[in-house]
Amino acid sequence: MTASDKNIFPVFDELLSKKDKENLLNQHAFTIWLTGLSGSGKTTIAKGVEKTLHDKGYLCKVLDGDNLRSGLCNNLSFTENDRLENIRRVAEISKLFNDGGILTINCFVSPSKKIRALAQDIIGKEVFHEVYIKANVELCEQRDVKGLYKKARAGEIKNFTGIDAPFEIPNQPSLVIDTKELSVDESIEKIINYFLPKIEIN
Ligand code: ADX
Repeated sequence: MTASDKNIFPVFDELLSKKDKENLLNQHAFTIWLTGLSGSGKTTIAKGVEKTLHDKGYLCKVLDGDNLRSGLCNNLSFTENDRLENIRRVAEISKLFNDGGILTINCFVSPSKKIRALAQDIIGKEVFHEVYIKANVELCEQRDVKGLYKKARAGEIKNFTGIDAPFEIPNQPSLVIDTKELSVDESIEKIINYFLPKIEIN
C-alpha cells in the first residue's frame, strides 16, 4: 500500500470534487502553459491574459519562474536536474490550483520536451495546454529587459537558455504566439479567443 491509498486517508473521499469547485466558480479549470526563452514576453502576456479573464469574472493565478524561484524553488539552480525539479514542483502546484477550480497561467522557460512532458504528466493531458511564446535568441537579446543576456554573454551567468543551454521548440503546442508579428495586446487577444470557449461552462 502507498501513502496515497484512499483507505489509509479516507479524507480524500470526503473532499468536494473539482467539479464542485468549477461549478461554484462557473468556470472550467486548466493550465495554460507558456513556454519560451527568457525575455520572450511570457510574463507580460500572462498578466494581460489574467487581467482580461479576471475582468470577465474568471479566477486565475499566474505562476511565474522568477516569482516561484524566489520562494518555493529558491534552492534550485539552472542545471538540467534542478530545472526538472523546478517544473515538477510548479506542476504539482498547478494541479492543486486546477483541482480547486482555479485556472493557472504558467510562465516558465521549461526548455526541453522532457521537462514539458513531465509537467503534462503531473497536471494531466486534458488540462495541460502548451502555448509557445515565440521569439528567437536575437530578438530576446535585443530586448534584454533584465540585462541577463549581456551577463550570459560575458560569462557571468552559466547555463543560460539560448546562450549556453538549449531550448527545444515545442512540436505541437496548442497555440503559437509569434511576438515578432503580434503586439502584446494582439497576443493576449489570440490567447483569450482560443481559451475562452474552453473556460466557459455551458
Ligand atoms: S526553467 O528553465 O526552470 O523553466 P524558469 O522559468 O523557472 O526556468 O526561470 C527562468 C528565469 O530565471 C528567466 O526568465 C531569467 O529571469 C532567470 N534566469 C536566471 N538564470 C537563468 C538561466 N541560466 N537560464 C534561464 N533563465 C535564467
